[in-house]
Amino acid sequence: MTTQQDRLDDRLLFPTGFTWGAATSAYQIEGAVGEDGRGQSIWDVFSRKPGRVLGGDNADVAIDHYHRYRDDVALMAELGLSAYRFSISWPRVQPDGMGAINQRGLDFYRRLVDELLGRGVEPWVTLYHWDLPQSLEDRGGWPERDTAYRFAEYAAAVHEALGDRVRNWSTVNEPWCAAFLGYASGEHAPGRREPASAIRAAHHLNLAHGLSARVLKNDGNRVGGCVNLYAISPATDTAADLDAARRVDGLQNRFFLDALLKGRYPADVLEDLEQVTDMAFVKDGDQETIKAHIDMLLVNYYSRFTVSGAPGGAASAAAAPTDSASPWVGSEHVSFVNGGRPVTAMGWEIDDSGLTEILVRVAADYPRLSLVVSENGAAFDDVLSEGRVRDTDRIAYLDAHLRACRTAIDEGVPLEGYFAWSLMDNFEWAWGYGKRFGLLHVDYATQRRTPKDSALWYAETIRHNS
Ligand code: NOJ
Repeated sequence: MTTQQDRLDDRLLFPTGFTWGAATSAYQIEGAVGEDGRGQSIWDVFSRKPGRVLGGDNADVAIDHYHRYRDDVALMAELGLSAYRFSISWPRVQPDGMGAINQRGLDFYRRLVDELLGRGVEPWVTLYHWDLPQSLEDRGGWPERDTAYRFAEYAAAVHEALGDRVRNWSTVNEPWCAAFLGYASGEHAPGRREPASAIRAAHHLNLAHGLSARVLKNDGNRVGGCVNLYAISPATDTAADLDAARRVDGLQNRFFLDALLKGRYPADVLEDLEQVTDMAFVKDGDQETIKAHIDMLLVNYYSRFTVSGAPGGAASAAAAPTDSASPWVGSEHVSFVNGGRPVTAMGWEIDDSGLTEILVRVAADYPRLSLVVSENGAAFDDVLSEGRVRDTDRIAYLDAHLRACRTAIDEGVPLEGYFAWSLMDNFEWAWGYGKRFGLLHVDYATQRRTPKDSALWYAETIRHNS
């Protein structure tokens, strides 16, 4: 058996200048939902609907980062993070999702960025991490083309305010989730179960990426798109299982990768979707817009799916905590089977080899593009005892996935950074506060932050660059 000490004795150096970060998102941490002119987001409304979020939790207060950001940045500096990836809340900056800009909202992010820069932590800004202004949802939400144009205007306002001091930008976080969990399965806000609308939403999120990537680009800064990719295996090599794996890979991975990087949707995926939509909402020129020049691709990686074409498995890979439909539009008959690996508290199978596989594949299929692992991490049932969280399972997870990154680098992948998800325990969407992903433990009653053993381990890793 490999012990933690063996692992430490077996250090692997990372390239000089490798970015060591941690990530969060606005709705999951900020709280202060009614302060300084912030408008409502779809998550404010959705989390109030009975039965949509486990335990009836919402993020009205979350972990109060809006008021505690200075202390939180100090903790980042103590860990030695070279970068911090966070998102901007659209309804804080533009309460109605169009028209007037809320200066007080923008000022918060200006203060946060200044604090980060003052502490030597590089800000990595994500423009959209799922908190659509509710007023835009009232006008149809992401299935409406207009939402993408409104997003480009919001991007311009943020860029004008922060463009001089933020170098690394990304557009839309995990468009697959925003489209298919929000509009097909309904397990995320706005909670709609309309398969055809989900495809429209996916296209308009891609369009929003392309339009805003152009807005964000100016001399010296770098812009990326952010996708959540899964390693995918067929359960067996029967034709049905191979086809199921192709379909899931198609909608989850290639639909977004090909759109952003090749300027087209994969033909086989369009065929899978034929029964649901004729894609008439894709207008001339859209694909060129979506294939905006980007400097890097941000990859969020958590797990591997084992997929079957035979009925009987789970209908969703990461079973939703609440009643929901299938997010697998056009492939509702595919099912997900147990791949026999250990799982995290989310029930997600742990497979570090899948991360190497994904990185190597993306580098081969879409060459000459810098890659960043923009999220990777795990929820476990942490116990805070006598001021300490001995989360050896999380350390093992991070250690294995960093080794997987290093293997990818050895195989020639231009991987330039890694962001742990998450810096702090926070509001885990439909799962509420029950699932803890943080390096820092948060006591939700007192808001006290305590570095878990994994935080101390990560700080050491960063200090040694290995
Ligand atoms: C991806 C999402 O971007 C993030 O918001 C979420 O908390 C983590 N995955 C864990 O589910």
